[in-house]
Order: sequence, then structure tokens, then C-alpha cells
Amino acid sequence: MSDSTVLVTGTSTGFGRLTVEALARRGHQVFAGLRDVTGRNERAAAELTALAAAEGLRLRVVEIDVTDQDSVERAVREVTEAAGRLDVVVNNAGMNFAGPVEAYTAAEAHRQFDVNTLGALRVNNAALPYLRAQGHGALIQVGSLAGWLTPPFNGLYAASKAALRSLTEAWHHELAPYGIEAVILDAAAYPTNIGANAAMPADQQRMALYGETMTRFVTDLVARTTAGAATIGEASQVSDALVALVETPHGKRPLQTLVAPPAQYAAVHALQEQANAAARIVADDMGIGAYLAAR
Ligand SMILES: NC(=O)c1ccc[n+]([C@@H]2O[C@H](COP(=O)([O-])OP(=O)(O)OC[C@H]3O[C@@H](n4cnc5c(N)ncnc54)[C@H](OP(=O)(O)O)[C@@H]3O)[C@@H](O)[C@H]2O)c1
Repeated sequence: MSDSTVLVTGTSTGFGRLTVEALARRGHQVFAGLRDVTGRNERAAAELTALAAAEGLRLRVVEIDVTDQDSVERAVREVTEAAGRLDVVVNNAGMNFAGPVEAYTAAEAHRQFDVNTLGALRVNNAALPYLRAQGHGALIQVGSLAGWLTPPFNGLYAASKAALRSLTEAWHHELAPYGIEAVILDAAAYPTNIGANAAMPADQQRMALYGETMTRFVTDLVARTTAGAATIGEASQVSDALVALVETPHGKRPLQTLVAPPAQYAAVHALQEQANAAARIVADDMGIGAYLAAR
């Protein structure tokens, strides 16, 4: 299938950029979401527009800052007016706050959730009236293994992705009766800009309390997420999986997709199976099993 209309957020670099280029080259009608297209992402917007012209792709840049309600609503309107439909939304935009939880103010924590969690909520809320009217659609969230397992010095990020996972499960159950699928792709660490661009807490004094351990941890994390494919694999493994998920026939997309090196995959896959079985048992025991969608 190569004629879905797809909106992807956060496509300046990384998974999002690879995904929109791959989807467009496979014939889909693709809207590449970028924030600040006349400022920080002017170059990415020009490159994507030039690629579309050079290769005759149905690839168009749409401005969307997922933390801005008006921007999100404008973008979804632009897509649906231009395309007359919207089949798949990929909530990929994200950022990473690295550092001990203690060093963050609530305002900084809010910023982490605003992008990674509430960003998807805004986009999905804007898209849902169109998807509901169509009677079909898919909401794909880009999650993380950190949404299942929380490492130190990455607690805000992990919490934002765990919350995104919970929201996805709720959307999955609630929207299935309306023909709308909500699923999540959880990725391990792959080389993109996210590690190097990690935001640090403003309170350097509290950061300093964690001293050398914290510094070494960040160095290791950045090295890991910017390292070559030889050690962890390519970011395209994630974009390939996103493309496959977009192209999975409607009604067949699994709630959870996992992209990870073999040992991590095996461990988290087992955890997911156990969590899914537990969710079913608890719901049945509470007498609400009939309201759960298939996973
Ligand atoms: N790389 C990994 O190891 C990994 C693992 C698991 C999950 N993930 C998730 O994968 C997704 C993509 O990340 P990536 O690794 O490809 O990193 P990336 O290269 O840094 O891409 C992140 C994208 O999100 C965009 N973004 C940030 N804030 C935004 C906002 N307010 N509105 C709209 N777009 C915004 C960025 O745009 P700007 O250029 O304008 O900042 C950028 O295009 C994220 O959700 C991330 O949490 C990554």
C-alpha cells in the first residue's frame, strides 16, 4: 500500500527526517512537520522541499510546534484541506532532559512533558475529529525503552515516555470502536541528535552534587547515542519500522512495536507480554475486560 496520507512531527533530523523521506519515496502523500520553518529549521524545510521537487515526491513541509495549540490545529487543518484526508499521524517530535531529577524545577519538568507527552495529546486531539469522520485512521506514537525501564539521570525523559505509553494504551482501547488505531513504537538508543541536544537543568549547583558520576553518565550516554552503527545499529532501523507500521493494513497494527538490539529486544518483549497478560487478568477480574481492545 503506498497511498496513505501521513503527518509526521519533528522531521528536521533523526527518525522523523528518515521516515518522511522513506515514506515519500514509497509513494505516500507525506506532510513533514517542522517547527520554526523560517528560523531554526529553514534549512531542513528547504532541503525537504528541494527533495520533493527533484524526485517528484508528494512531500510537503507543514509548520507545527507540538507545544503550541494554535500551531497544531493550523497544521492539521492545512493537511486535511490540502489532502482531503489524513490516514496516519506519527507523533515523533521529542526531546531529552538529562540530569538528576532533583536538579529540575517543576517548570523544566513541564517542558519535558509538554513536548514528549502533551505534544502527542495536542496533535491527536486535533486530528481525531477528521479521523472519526473518515471512520478510520492511525495514531502512531514514538516511544522509548525508557518508557518501560527507567535509568538514572534520565528520569524526566523516562517518565514522559512512560506517560506517552499509558496514553497510547488508553487511546488504543477507547478509539478502537471508532475504527481508529493507536499504537506505539518503542525504540532503544540509536544514533540521532537527541543525546547531543539533551537539555540540562538550570540549577547547576544541584547538578554539581552528583559530581563525577553524572558527568561520566552523560558522556557515556552521548557517546552511545551518537556512536556508529557498528555498536548499536542505524537510526534507519527505527524509520524502517515506522514505514512498515504505516503500511500495515488497517486493523492489523499491533499495540506495541519494539526496535532494539537482540538482548534488549528479548528482555523488553518478555516484559511487554507479561504486562499485557496482567492487564487482561486485572481487567477481567474487575469485570471490565470487555472494554479492552485486542493488543
Ligand atoms: N534516538 C534515540 O535513541 C531514541 C530512542 C527512543 C525514542 N526516541 C524518540 O524518537 C523521537 C525522535 O527523536 P530522534 O532520536 O530522531 O532525535 P532528533 O534527531 O533530536 O529529532 C527530534 C525531533 O523533534 C523535534 N522537536 C523537538 N521539539 C519540538 C516541538 N516543540 N515541536 C515540534 N518538533 C519538535 C526536533 O526539531 P528541532 O530540530 O526543531 O529541535 C527534531 O526534529 C523522539 O520522540 C525521541 O524521544 C529516540
